[in-house]
Amino acid sequence: MGLMQKAATLRLENLHLAQGQRSVLEGISGEIASGAVTALIGANGAGKSTLIKALMGELRPLAGKVHCAVPRARRAWLPQQLALDLSFPMSVEELVMTGTWPTHGALKGYCAAHYRQGRDIMARLGISDVAHRPLGELSGGQRQRALLGRTLMQQARLLLLDEPFANVDAQTVDILIPIIRQMADDGATVIVVLHDMEHVKRLADAVLLLQNGTGQWRSADAVAASLPAAHCFAGGAHA
Ligand SMILES: Nc1ncnc2c1ncn2[C@@H]1O[C@H](COP(=O)(O)OP(=O)(O)OP(=O)(O)O)[C@@H](O)[C@H]1O
Ligand SMILES: [Mg+2]
Repeated sequence: MGLMQKAATLRLENLHLAQGQRSVLEGISGEIASGAVTALIGANGAGKSTLIKALMGELRPLAGKVHCAVPRARRAWLPQQLALDLSFPMSVEELVMTGTWPTHGALKGYCAAHYRQGRDIMARLGISDVAHRPLGELSGGQRQRALLGRTLMQQARLLLLDEPFANVDAQTVDILIPIIRQMADDGATVIVVLHDMEHVKRLADAVLLLQNGTGQWRSADAVAASLPAAHCFAGGAHA
């Protein structure tokens, strides 16, 4: 798909973001295309999660504005810190099925077509065998697949992934990358916080580098070319 066809569904207008009294980012502007994957990179504390929260509407900007054409029910956010209570007795399948809630409501139950869709999604993600396992008994990789499964079930049009590959095995990364790619190819606006430049190379169309309290747009090719393949930007591992 050519760049010309990719319309911006998300426009950032001179954003100024703070956490408590601390100014974190200033002068963030730009258009984020739908049908593409935008990587957010930067050192620990650079403000990546802060920007993600602002894009999701969870953090009110001090100044500036986020213009988002995607309705709330089609926005999905996978936080860096898991907000799920893992002692809650819910299975993988039940979690995936909750992806219907934003559009269909939580109380209506699911129809046969929903269950079929959920099973297809779990098969794609390679988690059919753990469909009935409680969330508290999953590996990190299985949990991340289930969480992405919920966003697929939701048919998310805006997908914000905050370090989705942290503490996840290589096999899971190999499964998740093409699925995330496909969501973008299907027209979703995908923004993903990444630390590993190899992942940037494999997944990103555009890059927003957060540094010194502001952001710079880079082409993914330029970022990939300027750094060795194995380079980790402020390694997520010791984050
Ligand atoms: N709830 C909070 N209250 C006060 N300060 C915060 C809060 N959350 C984050 N900060 C500060 O805001 C700045 C940006 O944090 P943020 O979490 O956005 O960074 P990040 O780029 O996501 O880092 P990491 O790579 O470690 O995830 C940091 O200086 C951090 O200490
Ligand atoms: Mg973060």
